[in-house]
Amino acid sequence: MTSIPHVHANVLQSAQQQIQQDLQLALNAFSIPEPLKGAVHHAVMLGGKRVRPALCYATSHLKPNHPCFAAARRAAVAIELIHCYSLAHDDLPCMDNDLLRRGQPTCHVAFGEDTALLTGDILQSMAFEVLGSRLFDQGQVVPAEIVLRQIQILATASSRMVCGQVLDLQAEGKHVDQEHLEQIHRNKTGALIQAAIMMAAVTIFEGTDPAIPKLRQFGQAIGLAFQVQDDILDVTADTEMLGKTAGKDEQVEKSTYPALMGLEQAKQYAQKLHDQAFEALEYFADNATELNQISQFLLSRQS
Ligand code: IPE
Ligand code: IPE
Ligand code: MG
Ligand code: MG
Ligand code: MG
Repeated sequence: MTSIPHVHANVLQSAQQQIQQDLQLALNAFSIPEPLKGAVHHAVMLGGKRVRPALCYATSHLKPNHPCFAAARRAAVAIELIHCYSLAHDDLPCMDNDLLRRGQPTCHVAFGEDTALLTGDILQSMAFEVLGSRLFDQGQVVPAEIVLRQIQILATASSRMVCGQVLDLQAEGKHVDQEHLEQIHRNKTGALIQAAIMMAAVTIFEGTDPAIPKLRQFGQAIGLAFQVQDDILDVTADTEMLGKTAGKDEQVEKSTYPALMGLEQAKQYAQKLHDQAFEALEYFADNATELNQISQFLLSRQS
């Protein structure tokens, strides 16, 4: 599992442990034939920072001991399954054509393109099946209205991810302006990160609660910052640290923030977005300690 700076280790490590357990429980509930079963295990269980589940738990902790925690746990599993599907497809030869992911051979390298394609497909349906299930319920029943909201949030974000991916591929080898690049990044990456937060938000806050727009604002800033940082790390980190091939974006002329504005300005922009994220969290004062810690980690991450 990816190592993380000591100061923020607790909140992330406990999220990583929780999600690892919950993902395994969720996968066990499905009967999948080989070689798909092995490929699903490969795509889901081997490594990853688990940032989206961590954001989901931390948001649900804004109100401790809430009776709908099972719904947040299901949301964390669902968002990670969608994320893993997006990675399996993102790495395919017809997309980014990558060989290394989370320090392992990519899904298609290990299992073939046909199986990697189907791995992404099944992970997508599994995510929604988990979200609508009673997995992790202990006596308490989560109101159907909340589950429906979660399904809507995840479906919208998943479509936005796909739209962002197509714009990303279209922008290879082209000059795009900052507005267009922002649109790509907000969709391909920001949307799922924001969804991780909002799926938990709707379990603890009514739709009219002012906390909801604050969390949406936080999710928007941290979501865009995440891909800006991913672009920066592609330039500054090495393959071993990243667990994926460094320098790949420049090689295939991806439209990225460092390519558009230079490395230093991209770093400043990431910092500015993080400042916006921290500002949105001020509303929650001390209750947002976990979200603050995860945000700090994201800004200083090296992989
Ligand atoms: C990588 O996401 C793909 C992007 C959306 C930038 P992560 O950096 O969260 O990947 P893992 O899950 O830790 O491997
Ligand atoms: C990832 O963008 C976006 C999705 C997977 C949806 P990248 O293509 O930059 O992600 P990495 O760098 O391969 O992880
Ligand atoms: Mg890509
Ligand atoms: Mg990629
Ligand atoms: Mg990248």
